[in-house]
Amino acid sequence: MKFFIDTANLDQIREAQALGILDGVTTNPSLMAKEGITGEENIKNHYKAICEIVDGDVSAEVIATDYEGMVREGEALAALHSQIVVKLPMIADGVKACKYFSDKGIKTNVTLVFSAGQALLAAKAGATYVSPFIGRLDDISTDGLNLIAEIRHIYDNYMFETEILAASVRHTMHVIDCAKIGADVMTGPLKAIEGLLNHPLTTIGLEKFLADYKKGN
Ligand code: G3P
Repeated sequence: MKFFIDTANLDQIREAQALGILDGVTTNPSLMAKEGITGEENIKNHYKAICEIVDGDVSAEVIATDYEGMVREGEALAALHSQIVVKLPMIADGVKACKYFSDKGIKTNVTLVFSAGQALLAAKAGATYVSPFIGRLDDISTDGLNLIAEIRHIYDNYMFETEILAASVRHTMHVIDCAKIGADVMTGPLKAIEGLLNHPLTTIGLEKFLADYKKGN
């Protein structure tokens, strides 16, 4: 499973990259705003800065909600850097724009996916990634992980190449459960990734090894 970090915070992206496990970055307009990045030029420069830090795919979301606008914005975003993936909302014009970009060989990420039917449409439109939001489904008492399992089942039935990018991951158990189900990618906050490191027996074991070493040296 690929690990993407879901943030526009450059320090956190650097930290995950330094760990050596980072495969890409996802952002969205809310994450950009959280970092105080506003205005078209600043946002574009920020995407370029992210691409300079990571080796993998960087999702950049369009703001337009009409087909022509999405195509125009998506082309400008894709031209920024070879690592940019055009992120499109799961609406009718987003599906059309996804088909347009996939026909042109430009990578896409269809976002705001909350049902298996939407994921099926994204795959039919040739999306590179589909982003089901598991945390937001959990928030409304609906099993987000079950959606990942449903999409995995459907995509495997037909050997769709669209990668399942489990998004709105909130914590470490989400990461592990996504890996069990067979998500191709998960994107989450740094804390969800770093949580994978922790085990008390590792801490205790290391302390004991070091104490025993000191006794003999
Ligand atoms: O990857 C999608 C993500 O940015 C949404 O996460 O935590 O706002 O539901 P969240």
